[in-house]
Amino acid sequence: MPATLSFCFLLFALIFTPAPVKGHYQVTSSGQPVVAAPGDDVILQCLVEPQLDMVDMTVEWSRPDAKRRPKGMEYVHLYRDNREVEDMKSSSYHNRTALFAGGLRHGNISLIVTNVTTADEGEYKCFIPKLQGNTKSSIVRLVVAQNSSKTITSETQLDPEAKGQNVLNGETKPSS
Ligand SMILES: *[C@@H]1O[C@H](CO)[C@@H](O)[C@H](O)[C@H]1NC(C)=O
Ligand SMILES: *[C@@H]1O[C@H](CO)[C@@H](O)[C@H](O)[C@H]1NC(C)=O
Ligand SMILES: *[C@@H]1O[C@H](CO)[C@@H](O)[C@H](O)[C@H]1NC(C)=O
Ligand SMILES: *[C@@H]1O[C@H](CO)[C@@H](O)[C@H](O)[C@H]1NC(C)=O
Repeated sequence: MPATLSFCFLLFALIFTPAPVKGHYQVTSSGQPVVAAPGDDVILQCLVEPQLDMVDMTVEWSRPDAKRRPKGMEYVHLYRDNREVEDMKSSSYHNRTALFAGGLRHGNISLIVTNVTTADEGEYKCFIPKLQGNTKSSIVRLVVAQNSSKTITSETQLDPEAKGQNVLNGETKPSS
């Protein structure tokens, strides 16, 4: 009964082939500025929705408002080929940024920036170049105010547990 057999095979293929998901994802952020005082650690929230595993994708964080960054060093944080590409980031962010390894797996591409200064104030863009969707980027605004209230900044501060377990490339080994 070859006909029945091939019908079964076709049915099997139809059931177990995942439906293509295209034009369906978007990058989002809250729209609220993050307010911090100099020396604080902040988390710039950015998500891919619906949830998508971002571990094997390229994630770019940059400053769209910074007009005169040297070419090839324009990133605040660049994650590509499963690691941070350090030599393409602006030197002022060296050793100060990380993504969250646990979050990446669930579309959470939030960036931690440690020890912020007033020079860090401005717009940060999270961007997924290869995302299958119309909204591939989002902007998070960071305000660094000398007298910013601690009640606001505490929300954005890193909890110790996240620092110990989730920070990706948080520990940079000295290159010799
Ligand atoms: C994304 O990850 C950061 C760092 O772990 C966390 O603070 C934040 O709540 C997460 N956002 C969502 C929507 O899960
Ligand atoms: C934070 O940055 C300031 C300069 O902006 C520096 O003097 C200080 O040592 C830094 N603190 C840490 C913990 O890296
Ligand atoms: C911060 O507060 C101090 C006194 O409370 C004031 O002298 C100073 O001008 C304030 N700085 C800013 C940037 O508002
Ligand atoms: C980053 O940290 C490494 C190791 O701690 C150090 O060797 C390097 O000089 C640091 N880079 C900058 C720009 O501070």
